Amino acid sequence: MSEQIDLLIHNIGQLCCVPAHNGGPQRGHDLGDLGLLDGAAVAIHDGTIIATGPDDELRAAYTGAIIIDAGDELVTPGLVDPHTHLIWAGDRADEFEQRIAGTTYQQIMAAGGGINRTVKHTRAADLNTLVEQAKQRLDVMLAHGSTTVECKTGYGLETATEITMLSTIALLDMEHPVDLVPTFLGAHAIPPEYADDPGGYVDVVINEMLPAVAGWRADHWPDTLFCDVFCEVGAFNLDQTRRILEAAKALGLALKIHVDEFESLGGARLAAELGAVSADHVVVTPDEDIQALGRSDTIAVALPPTPFGLGHADYTPAHKFLEAGAALAVATDCNPGTGWNENMQFVMALATRYMHLTPAQALAAATINAAFAIDRGDRVGSLEPGKQGDLVIWNVPTYQHLSYRFGSNMAHTVIKRGQVVHRAS
Ligand code: NIG
Ligand code: FE
Repeated sequence: MSEQIDLLIHNIGQLCCVPAHNGGPQRGHDLGDLGLLDGAAVAIHDGTIIATGPDDELRAAYTGAIIIDAGDELVTPGLVDPHTHLIWAGDRADEFEQRIAGTTYQQIMAAGGGINRTVKHTRAADLNTLVEQAKQRLDVMLAHGSTTVECKTGYGLETATEITMLSTIALLDMEHPVDLVPTFLGAHAIPPEYADDPGGYVDVVINEMLPAVAGWRADHWPDTLFCDVFCEVGAFNLDQTRRILEAAKALGLALKIHVDEFESLGGARLAAELGAVSADHVVVTPDEDIQALGRSDTIAVALPPTPFGLGHADYTPAHKFLEAGAALAVATDCNPGTGWNENMQFVMALATRYMHLTPAQALAAATINAAFAIDRGDRVGSLEPGKQGDLVIWNVPTYQHLSYRFGSNMAHTVIKRGQVVHRAS
């Protein structure tokens, strides 16, 4: 007797299960274990994966209320984007024009543009506007195969707007098929009203914003909530970063840090020391700090669309991280300043060419390791029994294509918790 289930996806040419390793990410040179199966099927019931295996065996064992023929094509876990600044208002296309003419990102920031320009427009926007604009970007992410997305605040830089941004994330998580994971980034920039008193702003983040954020979480978000800091020259120094993150940790928030995007201030070492879940950017990270991450559980999150978007030559030195035994993930960093890109397929294309990952490593970095980088490794990022039924049927036959081809969308059908949530027309 075959078992009655909600959904059977069969005739999968190549299935990438991308398993967790010992309940954790794929560390060091173990990155790239795709758990490949040719001629496979996936059984899903109640939104959860109950089996993956050979097509004939699963077809004999299960009868799906809905049966989807994958057309002999590739199936992978839904992609996970563990670092985005998805919510903003306003436009900064003119800054891109200035940058390609030679003005640097930091010069634009110092002249009052950059993040603080987006802050001005985001403060002036209401909740509905923020939800509607972010939803459009989230639709693009979903259509390109992302099924779980981290999302930061950080364009409010005052308590009320930071809380509005958290509410925007919670609303989108409820209304949209993509799962969102929220991060409070009140320490993204020094807002203009504190330009002459950065220490005063750090005090506001610690004494006013963090307690308000913890209160918001108690009422609205029972799951993991992250606190992040932009630890960089012109933003927050190492001591300020430590004070903010120690206060956040005491309130029960999980930690992330933007480190070593342009200059190293020791943020990666601090991330390892404080037990941060991830250290992100990690472009100019010194060797000792790479070793410290390798010894820790902190995931190194590379954001290749950022150097690409800025026209910079330096990318995260991925192989040094793998050599040190660190767990490496990749993300879009989708934001209006350094790189507006919703597409994790493009991230894999960049990670293979400029970080020299293999296509298999890039896919594992964009799925299972990305899930662990946002504390969701127990639920998403791989196709294993017990995990959410989040997967993508691609228009290509094998995983190599996902990195090999670029510039067009290869996602065909996107399934979230066992429901078809997007289908290419
Ligand atoms: O990750 N580095 C800080 N934050 C973003 C840029 C945000 C912006 O320019 O609006 C980043 O690159
Ligand atoms: Fe960022």
